Amino acid sequence: MEQGGLRQRLTAILAADVAGYTRLMAADAGGTVAALEEARALFHEQIAAQGGRVVDMAGDSVLALFESAAGAVDAALAVQKALEAASRATAAERRLRVRIGVHLGDVIEKADGSIYGHGVNVAAHLQTKAAPGGVCMSEALYESVKERLPGAARFAGRQRLKNIEEPVALWQVLPEGASAADYALADTPNNLPLQLTSFIGRDDELADAAKLLERSRLLTFLGTGGIGKSRLSLELAGQVMPQFTDGVWLVELATLRDARLVPQAVASALGVKEAAGRPVSEALLHHVKDRQILLILDNCEHLLQGCAELARSLLQAGRAAKLIASSREPLRVAGETTYAVPALPQSEAERLFVERARAAKPDFRADGSAAA
Ligand SMILES: Nc1ncnc2c1ncn2[C@@H]1O[C@H](COP(=O)(O)OP(=O)(O)O)[C@@H](O)[C@H]1O
Ligand SMILES: [Mg+2]
Repeated sequence: MEQGGLRQRLTAILAADVAGYTRLMAADAGGTVAALEEARALFHEQIAAQGGRVVDMAGDSVLALFESAAGAVDAALAVQKALEAASRATAAERRLRVRIGVHLGDVIEKADGSIYGHGVNVAAHLQTKAAPGGVCMSEALYESVKERLPGAARFAGRQRLKNIEEPVALWQVLPEGASAADYALADTPNNLPLQLTSFIGRDDELADAAKLLERSRLLTFLGTGGIGKSRLSLELAGQVMPQFTDGVWLVELATLRDARLVPQAVASALGVKEAAGRPVSEALLHHVKDRQILLILDNCEHLLQGCAELARSLLQAGRAAKLIASSREPLRVAGETTYAVPALPQSEAERLFVERARAAKPDFRADGSAAA
């Protein structure tokens, strides 16, 4: 598309950055600069080999465009593989490792070769979600290369990227032969929403709930609407996240009207796709098997039957999976532990009220007097 001399087109974008560059430079500037020079030469070589164009290679970062999605991924994986081979003799803490993000999105190219556009921002921030030594792909890109990836890719959830409004579905892939254990992923994959307000009180409740979740595989928070079940389950999930290496997933059921659609809702949160002609629950149970996953089923009360059935079969299929449910009534599934969420003590409830009122109206005063 041509617009005022600017060309916009769908392009595969690669963005890369050295993990822990400042730390590496502080520890060994000479060695790091030499390793960076080698890495840059590798990028130039592999990008050219895939018909790509280097847009920018300033400092410790790389930005490149490719005519094909497959070319971008092949270049990214080839660089990671070569870097891994080259750094094998170096002590782990001195190794130069890069994070690479690859995205398929709209790019505006100016006549001078510089590039702009939403797609470029997504690629640049995707990179921060990659494991050092790994490649993080957006789902848009993953969909067009998944049939021909040399190694396994793993869904890393819908994650928020800095300055990008909508969460982006991500896939992580490691170079062939790499063991996942060598590459601690940047974060536990998760789709937990960013909490924009501070969490008030609840120290005892969190500690109690954490203990219950240690002993039980299904913990149901009970209580009336507004008491704080959802918020408490998100805080608890955030706290225990490191124990669930395969991810922590929130499934919002409030707007779901049909209990038969519960498995579908869970599957889409986990990025599980059904096989043609088979029920989605089958793919879901297969996926959960052997995975360390924590699922949060939020707002179960109007779909008790559907949630109970799903919880029962998930707990049977996945021995390492755990569930947190929030509901006005228990699911009544074998193995369920319930926890009645108490109201916030008055002083904390007041604090919550005042903080929210201030957020809405910065000069709000709790004593009712007008601000000066
Ligand atoms: N401990 C807390 N600290 C801060 N905000 C809270 C806390 N508990 C609840 N809230 C807020 O109060 C509102 C209602 O809580 P929520 O968890 O949604 O209740 P429920 O799920 O029981 O209906 C939400 O806006 C939530 O963020
Ligand atoms: Mg709720």
